[in-house]
Amino acid sequence: MTRWLPHTRSSSAGTPTVTTDARDFHRSLPGFAETPLVDLPELAREWNVGRVVAKDESTRLDLPAFKALGASWAVHRAVAAADRPMTVVTATDGNHGRAVARFSKLAGHSAVIFIPDGVHPSAVQAIRGEGADVREVGGSYDQAVAAAARASETPSHVLIQDTAWEGYEDVPGWIVDGYTTLFAETDQQLAQLGVDHVDLTLIPTGVGSLLQAALTYYRGTRQGLTRVVSVEPTEAACVAPSLTAGEPVTVETGTTIMSGLNCGTLSMLAWPLIRDGLDGAVAVSDYEVVMAARELALMGVTPGPCGGSGSAAARALFTGQGSVERRRHLGIDATSTVLLVITEGVEANPLPS
Ligand SMILES: Cc1ncc(COP(=O)(O)O)c(C=O)c1O
Repeated sequence: MTRWLPHTRSSSAGTPTVTTDARDFHRSLPGFAETPLVDLPELAREWNVGRVVAKDESTRLDLPAFKALGASWAVHRAVAAADRPMTVVTATDGNHGRAVARFSKLAGHSAVIFIPDGVHPSAVQAIRGEGADVREVGGSYDQAVAAAARASETPSHVLIQDTAWEGYEDVPGWIVDGYTTLFAETDQQLAQLGVDHVDLTLIPTGVGSLLQAALTYYRGTRQGLTRVVSVEPTEAACVAPSLTAGEPVTVETGTTIMSGLNCGTLSMLAWPLIRDGLDGAVAVSDYEVVMAARELALMGVTPGPCGGSGSAAARALFTGQGSVERRRHLGIDATSTVLLVITEGVEANPLPS
């Protein structure tokens, strides 16, 4: 499998700090509820592992994707103390922008959202439905981020972007802190099932902030028992080339139904954790994701394209030629617990019919 790159963690990497402030904040939000952790015994049998669980983020804070966890906490940190109405600015391939628009409005601020090419019209409409001023930039995700950063230089504007670069680190750091709620919740739900820890998780990866949250959480707790693998579309796979080069590499992105993962540049804050803590990188095709999402739907979980990518990746890793070596590298056997993160429901982004 050429689109799989095994990686070895650095033994000298430090231990990341996991904070609980964001989780306390989320729990204080009106109507907060944990998202379900769904047991998928059919997949466990198919893949010859002990257990497969899916953390289903399709109903997170009344929005259809996990992004609400990061946006709510970052908007709170950035503008809760503002004594006048602000304009919150961001670039998005859908879910992040909708969540930023929602939580800005709830806090009494307006939102301007920059959108690259290739975002599904229903996702654009959903952002407008949150009352945001939507600007379609006619370019790539990276170009939309640049446009949002420029617009935020205006007085009373604040950028809430989910990727970091030199000099822009606080907000993306808060967003990552917000995402860790998902992994902490999962551990608690697993404990109720009598499961001590996750052996492997497959993380849908765009700019890598969710991956950073996973690596922060799993490397910061339990001495890193959990293997973490990034999952990207073949048309926008920058993790493997970056690991090979030993530094972040920007790739030209193509067209994919996984619009949330269609990013050519990794977040600067995510990179050191990826370099030191990742166990491998895999890329999946749109076709594999559609098949995986259909299979999950038969089991009662209905992911959008990004949400189905982890399952497509697990199938590619655990089956077919070379699977024995891949399982060995990942330490996977018939007793292992595998965590899929259903990062978006089909309500967030439709699947092609
Ligand atoms: C549904 C979904 N899954 C996964 C991701 C990837 O998150 P990140 O960009 O932090 O890697 C995104 C990002 O937009 C997303 O919308």
